[in-house]
Amino acid sequence: MNLKDLYIDFFVSKNHKQIPSSPVVPENDPSVLFNTAGMQPLIPYLLGQPHPYGTRLCDYQKCIRTNDIDEVGDTYHHTFFEMLGNWSLGDYFKKEAITWSYEFLTKTLNIPVNRLAVTIFSGNEYIPADEESYAIWRDLGIKEERIAKLADNFWIAGETGPCGGDSEMFYWRSNDPIPDTFDPDDERWVEIWNDVFMQYVKHEDGTVSELPNKNVDTGMGVERTVAILENVNDNYASSIWSDVISLISQIAKKPYEGNEKSMRIIADHLRTSVFISADNAGIKPSNTDQGYILRRLIRRAIRHAKSLGIDINTDWEQQIAKLILNKYSSYYKELETNHDVVLEVLASEKIKFNRTLEKGLKEFMRLTTNNQNIDGKTAFHLFDTYGFPLELTIELASEKGIDVDTEGYHEHFRAHQELSRARSAEKFKGGLAGNSEIETKYHTATHLLNAALKKVIGHEVHQRGSNITVERMRFDFNCDHKLTDEEKTSCEKLVNEWINQALPVTMCEMSKEEALASGAECMFIEKYPDMVTVYTIGDNISKELCGGPHVKNTSELGHFRITKEEASSSGVRRIKAVLE
Ligand code: SER
Repeated sequence: MNLKDLYIDFFVSKNHKQIPSSPVVPENDPSVLFNTAGMQPLIPYLLGQPHPYGTRLCDYQKCIRTNDIDEVGDTYHHTFFEMLGNWSLGDYFKKEAITWSYEFLTKTLNIPVNRLAVTIFSGNEYIPADEESYAIWRDLGIKEERIAKLADNFWIAGETGPCGGDSEMFYWRSNDPIPDTFDPDDERWVEIWNDVFMQYVKHEDGTVSELPNKNVDTGMGVERTVAILENVNDNYASSIWSDVISLISQIAKKPYEGNEKSMRIIADHLRTSVFISADNAGIKPSNTDQGYILRRLIRRAIRHAKSLGIDINTDWEQQIAKLILNKYSSYYKELETNHDVVLEVLASEKIKFNRTLEKGLKEFMRLTTNNQNIDGKTAFHLFDTYGFPLELTIELASEKGIDVDTEGYHEHFRAHQELSRARSAEKFKGGLAGNSEIETKYHTATHLLNAALKKVIGHEVHQRGSNITVERMRFDFNCDHKLTDEEKTSCEKLVNEWINQALPVTMCEMSKEEALASGAECMFIEKYPDMVTVYTIGDNISKELCGGPHVKNTSELGHFRITKEEASSSGVRRIKAVLE
């Protein structure tokens, strides 16, 4: 049986309910591009909202971390990974969490205790040391010298939100003799699991207060743990990757040994691209947000395929993507449903990239007409705008007998990397709920647009997704045709009329049944707890189950304008709109 099944079975046997993986693109959370941890979709519940599946949950969650795209190529970085997790929402706490972690590691996975070590939170000026966890680990038989008390064992996603001290578990991943004493700085000890005891919430002003519940949030990375269990030091040599890598090696007609970096990059980037484009959010390669990440991943995979000598005009990427789709589709249904969408995304981006490369070649020739050397800025420009890897520029330059300032290129590259890191940090800092004034306005405008579409197109129209940034709102809905200009204008007119009527926006709490009976609109009924909040606009212009936040009166919205209407996926249209 594989790790995911073992994990879920284990926690189901401890009375947990398995919850489905959330999409990689967070629903209604514009502050992050992708889900980066298993707990992210659960934040509202960790903050106290009751979860419809109860107080003991477990899952495997699709996660994407893109800060380190350029690190991929070594033995352990991945842009996409699966995270196993179990949660207690005010149910069990440290004793059960730690005992079950220990039981799963040593009994289910048969990891020898001698290869394990743990850390606990050593406390700070506000929060005391976690002596309770220390005592639990000791009772389970972990030796004193294998428990490290550390000040940075405190976990939070980003800057604000639910958080708490944690206890991490480490595995001795080396054939060297296992030392008696655990040294957290020795990289042969690798972290395999993290139990976070989420009992606090950190606010924007930096203060920390107690949560209504004492929660547990745990996370175990599938890729790393599988590699450990299979006793390989290179994650890409584990069964998760071996078939993908051997297909790449077969296509390239080259062995993995000696070509590891490019092969890992192709394997990793294509897998992540498959998962992004299979997501129901309908992400396509573009120059912004998730679409830009998707574009970068596909193009980098193509560049490395080229460098391996693969003829990129063949269907090499389709073959690899198909293997990945088949491998995962029993766990993630959208991979089956959107199978053809994924293949199409890859094929058409490849064509676009090829064109860009051709243009890049022309640009290269233009820039070097007089055989002048290439400075760092130009080399970076060729990379950034035309996707020219430095190696390609060097190769072309050497054919012409000119030099490339590689040092200067790297300086520009680093500066660019820092900038994009700062941008993604900025994105995260926006706050997980995305509650700025303008986002709140867009949130209310979303309800108005939903109501207008029902009037203009028909009552069968329902929301299929939404995404709000400080610059615009995006709304997906089912509809079998492209909206006509009249339909778009009617929707705009209606929304603006409601804005001009200065309608009050009111919120009340009721049971889920009562809310549905009252005709309130909602996207995923199964996701809501028994008691729900319903926002009503005006008398009955719009009524939706929603967590908010919303403005108090529609007059606060300004003027509503649709900027774009397009297909999102089959049977789903997408409107982008702004408030001015
Ligand atoms: N949230 C914690 C982590 O990502 C435990 O799941 O490590």
